[in-house]
Amino acid sequence: MTRDSLGLVWPLRSDIASGRGIGYRPLKHWIEENWVDWDAMSKPWLEAEGFLNAAHAEVMQGMMARAGLAPGQRILDVGCGTGPSLMLAAEAVGVDGHVTGIDIAPPLLARAAERAPENVTLIEGDAGSYAYPQAAFDAIISHFGTMFFADTAAAFANLRSAAKDGARMTLAVWGRPPKNPWFGIPRKAAVARFPDLPPPDPDAPGPMRFADAEALLAILNGAGWEASAETIDLHLTPGESVEATARMLMTAVSTMLLAPVEPMDDDLAAIEAGIASEFAGFEVDGVVRVPAEIHYLTATAS
Ligand SMILES: C[S@@+](CC[C@H](N)C(=O)[O-])C[C@H]1O[C@@H](n2cnc3c(N)ncnc32)[C@H](O)[C@@H]1O
Repeated sequence: MTRDSLGLVWPLRSDIASGRGIGYRPLKHWIEENWVDWDAMSKPWLEAEGFLNAAHAEVMQGMMARAGLAPGQRILDVGCGTGPSLMLAAEAVGVDGHVTGIDIAPPLLARAAERAPENVTLIEGDAGSYAYPQAAFDAIISHFGTMFFADTAAAFANLRSAAKDGARMTLAVWGRPPKNPWFGIPRKAAVARFPDLPPPDPDAPGPMRFADAEALLAILNGAGWEASAETIDLHLTPGESVEATARMLMTAVSTMLLAPVEPMDDDLAAIEAGIASEFAGFEVDGVVRVPAEIHYLTATAS
């Protein structure tokens, strides 16, 4: 463990890589706080890491372009996971800057720690309620990492207090479900096999929670931010065939999607086949390109 110039105690990268300083949070505690069980999700996410990073490349590029990070800045990356945006931010701020990544899932942080450069610090914790130092960050970024807070309004107010006045926060979140077959098709294939699968609660923590950008804007503007939203149509580019995409999507989303049921191997095979058949229309020259809708939120700490 170490203490930074702001007096905050952080686990060292070596603590995380070696497993010290992580894993003390009991699993049950995570599950109660998080409707999405990120402990269970970590294994499939790590297996699909390269696939997911490739799929999200256009989204990430759009977020980093809007964030406009500059050398020397101190950045907070919320829900940093295995660290794709951490690495880009660390490069953008350079050796005179610093990037802090926070995530609730130790296995994902451990992966980030393996490749984090010297100007990166990692924290295991709930980014919504963590006791950050006040006015510490020049900018906050989050690539799909803010949809899972227990109390969204309180979380964005907490992040506001961690930001310097005038700091910019840039978020990438999923848009409306009908425009995001990446989630809609696996759900359709799962419901074909499990007709009683409960529909997702749009207000509960989950990937589509901020599909209504206006609702998110109202929350941000009520939490000390001056926010605007851009809704962009783009493509997810996993760089794989239909079959490989269906297989990886099963890995990546099935834990979350199928959490309420107990699928057998033949159920999983049927769902994978259902995904593959629906995704066939997205294949061009042997590679899948899936249309998606993303909201980019840009907010200034007012
Ligand atoms: C969809 S993943 C995105 C990860 C990463 N930003 C990326 O783009 O690869 C969501 C991440 O948010 C993290 N997360 C969920 N709830 C959180 C919370 N309350 N505080 C911090 N991180 C959280 C998860 O552990 C996971 O790493």
